[in-house]
Amino acid sequence: MSRRHLAAAFAAALFLLCAADPDDERCLSHLHQSLSDPAGGLRNWTKASFSAPCDGFFSHLQGVTCNNGRVYKLALPGLSLGGTIPPELSNCTNLQSLDLSANALSGAIPPELSALLNLAVLNLSANALSGAIPRELASCAYLNIIDLHGNQLSGPIPDELGLLVRLSTLDVSYNRLSGPIPALLANRTGSVGFNASSFVGNKNLYGYPLPPMRTRGLSVLAIVGIGLGSGLLSLVLSFSAVCLWLRATDRTATTPGEEGKISQLMPDY
Ligand SMILES: *[C@@H]1O[C@H](CO)[C@@H](O)[C@H](O)[C@H]1NC(C)=O
Ligand SMILES: *[C@@H]1O[C@H](CO)[C@@H](O)[C@H](O)[C@H]1NC(C)=O
Ligand SMILES: *[C@@H]1O[C@H](CO)[C@@H](O)[C@H](O)[C@H]1NC(C)=O
Ligand SMILES: *[C@@H]1O[C@H](CO)[C@@H](O)[C@H](O)[C@H]1NC(C)=O
Ligand SMILES: *[C@@H]1O[C@H](CO)[C@@H](O)[C@H](O)[C@H]1NC(C)=O
Repeated sequence: MSRRHLAAAFAAALFLLCAADPDDERCLSHLHQSLSDPAGGLRNWTKASFSAPCDGFFSHLQGVTCNNGRVYKLALPGLSLGGTIPPELSNCTNLQSLDLSANALSGAIPPELSALLNLAVLNLSANALSGAIPRELASCAYLNIIDLHGNQLSGPIPDELGLLVRLSTLDVSYNRLSGPIPALLANRTGSVGFNASSFVGNKNLYGYPLPPMRTRGLSVLAIVGIGLGSGLLSLVLSFSAVCLWLRATDRTATTPGEEGKISQLMPDY
């Protein structure tokens, strides 16, 4: 009898351990839906396996690492994945590390990722992500590594990222970011993981550790354009000046009175 109780308790414990977390399930099924997988890297992400992704510490899914029955690491780099990052990724509330780098993901970085309060590593580098870097990411207070290099992100680097005191590596190079580098990030330059290489490759980003704002760089094309334009303008102006002068002298020449005066001034021979 007590043995039966023990067995029942054990079964219950096992069930609890194996039962899929509804948040993780929502997270993974939305992720699966919003990704395209032309290379078949997610072949074994079947509905059955992502509805129970974790078996205690064991995961059935490629790229998923589990801890105590919860998804805590997602690593799917270099799988030629297309599609977008769904806001529901934020339902993997125990996620500590998210690596979707070196794929073909497009669309925006969802600001909802700010709900991942345990996130320490965010690597979305080498994709085709666009839009702004969400300032909301500053809520992920444990963020240690942010690697967003090699995307098409635009707009300014949010000042709020400077509030991430644990941030040890930042790479936003090779995007389309603009504006000044936030002072709180700039003044970490020199510590490991923070230097000019973190910011290069963004044409309109400026300020230490990059060079100061350019005097809105006149490109060679603009200079040639201005040269040609002013050349043409002065040509037109001098041409019309000559025309006006000719017309004026013509009119004076054909005025009868003037003609008389002129002939009066002419010496007689
Ligand atoms: C899914 O693929 C990974 C890596 O290839 C493998 O470790 C895992 O056992 C597979 N899971 C299933 C359920 O086939
Ligand atoms: C799951 O994520 C969505 C999108 O961020 C959010 O609206 C929803 O509240 C989340 N669900 C839970 C249970 O946290
Ligand atoms: C992010 O992922 C890329 C490509 O998978 C890798 O080369 C890079 O080292 C990672 N970034 C960090 C900071 O670990
Ligand atoms: C960075 O800037 C902040 C605020 O301006 C300042 O408190 C801090 O001492 C600076 N750190 C360094 C290393 O210069
Ligand atoms: C920046 O730091 C990285 C390592 O953190 C190093 O490989 C790179 O050479 C440094 N770049 C500059 C310009 O100092």
